[in-house]
Amino acid sequence: MSDLHSPSEQSASPHFEDVVRERITRRGALQALVVLGGGAAATLATSGAAQAAPGYAPGELTFDALPLNTADQISLSPGFKHDVIISWGDPVVPGAPAFDVDNQTAGAQAQQFGFNNDYIDYIPLSDRPGRPQRGLLFVNHEYTSANMMFPGVTAAFPKPTWPATTAEQKRIEIEAHGASIVEVALNGNTWSYDPSSPYNRRITATTPMTITGPVAGNVHMRTNADPTGTSVKGMLNNCGGGSTPWGNTLTAEENFDQYFSNLTGLVTAAGAETDPAIKALKQYAANNASVFGIPVGPSGRGWETVDSRFDMRQEWNEPFRFGWIVEIDPLDPTSMPKKRTALGRFKHEAAAGVTAPNGQYVVYMGDDQRNQYIYKFVSSGTVQADRAANDGLLDSGTLYVAVYNADGTGTWKPLVFGEAPLVSPAFEDQADVLIRTRRAAELQGATPMNRPEDVEVSPTTGYIYAAMTGTDRAVLNAANPRGSSSATDPDSSRGGHIIEMQESNGDHTGTMFSWEIFMLCGNPNAGGKLDTVTQPPAANNSNRTYFAGFDESQVSPIARPDNVAF
Ligand code: FEO
Repeated sequence: MSDLHSPSEQSASPHFEDVVRERITRRGALQALVVLGGGAAATLATSGAAQAAPGYAPGELTFDALPLNTADQISLSPGFKHDVIISWGDPVVPGAPAFDVDNQTAGAQAQQFGFNNDYIDYIPLSDRPGRPQRGLLFVNHEYTSANMMFPGVTAAFPKPTWPATTAEQKRIEIEAHGASIVEVALNGNTWSYDPSSPYNRRITATTPMTITGPVAGNVHMRTNADPTGTSVKGMLNNCGGGSTPWGNTLTAEENFDQYFSNLTGLVTAAGAETDPAIKALKQYAANNASVFGIPVGPSGRGWETVDSRFDMRQEWNEPFRFGWIVEIDPLDPTSMPKKRTALGRFKHEAAAGVTAPNGQYVVYMGDDQRNQYIYKFVSSGTVQADRAANDGLLDSGTLYVAVYNADGTGTWKPLVFGEAPLVSPAFEDQADVLIRTRRAAELQGATPMNRPEDVEVSPTTGYIYAAMTGTDRAVLNAANPRGSSSATDPDSSRGGHIIEMQESNGDHTGTMFSWEIFMLCGNPNAGGKLDTVTQPPAANNSNRTYFAGFDESQVSPIARPDNVAF
């Protein structure tokens, strides 16, 4: 991914490694508490680790570690099996045409299972008459790979060389994005989906959606197709997500930048614009496009050739309508998806919700790009027993960004217009703060992180776990001890790590927390020590590991943590 943003960086001092080493040593004595308390046992893929957790019932979450392999197939531990429930092109909407790889159309794809899967939500239907052992699967279709979809399209994917596709193939790709909802059933010990279920639904990059919250109707959200700034076609690059206690799914728009094009053309147009008001809007759009890396010229997929809204020269505000958390009611196939702008705009990854003791709803989120941040949203209102009454709960509240101090404490900084430094003229209003969430977070001193992917909340302890999937050239700071600022070891931060956070007094609505390094991933051949004497950073940085205090002889090599689950 591109990295055109330059967040404020904390000092890259070896001091941070000293701090982390000391705290991890202390943490080693707490290992049993971590696992018994609901730690990330699913990522501790060894029988030894599972045996160390007597709180689990026999057979629950126990499995043998898989030896590393490079086989292009699903690999499972002994005793497990898998069923293919649904594949790209399978009919989703009742009456959808059967898949025909040689005769694909956009119209057919809009009714069929999309391409690529990411976040999966399971919504039980066991409380519905006649539907025991049934549920709904919500599946994100994050992006498309044209060379795997269309016979004869063979160019490399992904960048720098993108496949050349026809106009209809581009339209098919647009309809292959989004999400699918299908009803599934367990018969015997085999799962399958019901192609005739009235719950089945396709949501694509052209499905009408409502823009809600503080940014709805804002001047930067208005386009030729939507002069009200309240309605948008589709969602893009949906990656992680989460489910709410009222039964809705939250799905996260991530790398939306790649679908737009011609930033340089917009800059030129803004310079030549004679209407002062429109000139200001174009300049605002141009200034904020590079933060996410919108292509300066044609996009890789070339969608702008079939839909002008992807061309910034023609619809400069369209990118502002992506990069949000989308709330979808999977139980009502006629419901309108809603982009909840109060949760901020960035490359959203994850939406881990928890209801605070006082009833307020809290959503933890990450921004998955090098040196971006971790956020949480705290609703103003409280979760209601009446399901419908929760519509709009995510439209009013406070968005915070995480600051990690080297002493293991942390602060949630509010992103609220009017509170310095988020004041005029740096920002126009709260909508501006939310559209430019990254800039607001930077000004609040947010801690740059090593690519935040999934965030999950333990249902047992309320502790928060955030996976940094790792990247090269990451900033070195206390919360990211594998930063690779060192020119001699630019790749040392690729292994990734997991951070554990505890809200002060267990209050998810509060502004103080503490944190620990939970895992430093990699090959556990370094003895579990963060010891720069015996493991010189330049030589072995990427081999230094820590697995929540477990003896490394019991732990598999683990790298690039992405999705985690309880
Ligand atoms: Fe789509 Fe952050 O992975």
